[in-house]
Amino acid sequence: MNGKIPKIVLDSVNYTYPSGTKALLDVNLNINKSELVGIMGKNGAGKTTLIRTLNGLIRPSSGRIFINGRNINDQSIAQLSKKIGIIFQNPNHQLFSNTVYEEIEFSLKSIYNEKELVRKKIEETLTLFDFQRYRNRSPLNLSGGEKKKLALASIMCRDPEIIVFDEPTLGQDAKEIEFFINLLRKEQKLGKTIIIITHNVEFTIEFIPRTILMSNGKILADGPSKNILTNEKIIEQASLILPQVSQFKIALNKLGIKTPDNLYKEDDMIDFLSTYLGSK
Ligand SMILES: Nc1ncnc2c1ncn2[C@@H]1O[C@H](COP(=O)(O)OP(=O)(O)OP(=O)(O)O)[C@@H](O)[C@H]1O
Ligand SMILES: [Mg+2]
Repeated sequence: MNGKIPKIVLDSVNYTYPSGTKALLDVNLNINKSELVGIMGKNGAGKTTLIRTLNGLIRPSSGRIFINGRNINDQSIAQLSKKIGIIFQNPNHQLFSNTVYEEIEFSLKSIYNEKELVRKKIEETLTLFDFQRYRNRSPLNLSGGEKKKLALASIMCRDPEIIVFDEPTLGQDAKEIEFFINLLRKEQKLGKTIIIITHNVEFTIEFIPRTILMSNGKILADGPSKNILTNEKIIEQASLILPQVSQFKIALNKLGIKTPDNLYKEDDMIDFLSTYLGSK
């Protein structure tokens, strides 16, 4: 495949639900192989609808979607789901097996025929996700955070080229968020394309280089997360809240304390304040 062809292209995509809600309005988008991209926007902005169009779960009312340069209209949901793995917002809709082991097994069996290979991959996945101790447990009896992790495991074991994760940080503790982001970054380095939907501006500014910001079914901004998420005007338009460090910078500037432009992270703010106070 020509490396210059974008991994994902959306060309003037519109989607209207049967109820009449216009959820996507003229969405144009290119995402390259090996990119780590965040999709942000307030509730109802169209984020989940957008990713549901990617694997054919819903088909655009108009416009075209290409994956690896091929129009996805020519591909079935089964074909697309081999390429794209989506971890949905609510893991309860994704988990239906009797045990953790069977959940992973089911997912693998949908693409691999060889029994030995499936068995090997199940064990590798259970170990990677620290689920060996839960292998015989019902997914229903996992915590909310663990269910999300199992949903991720059941998608990642299939090794899709594109991984889409809807709200990975919701309800997760700091250690799990770190586990997810390290894992996804590793996959990105291996050439995978990663799309993360999140409301968490602090998380995005720290870990995700590019943000696609949606509002009312449209793309409001698309570019470096650090530029978009610290832009007061854009953030207000999207009805989001500025990252805490940016809010703090504005408050300090109002007091006449000048802060460095490239200060985005909490740790950097702490360093800045220590130096500033130390110099007083
Ligand atoms: N199954 C559906 N039928 C009808 N309308 C829907 C359906 N799902 C979503 N919508 C509507 O489409 C619009 C976009 O919804 P979507 O779920 O894509 O938003 P979102 O950005 O993912 O929001 P959230 O942050 O709350 O998950 C909203 O107005 C929503 O009410
Ligand atoms: Mg959503």
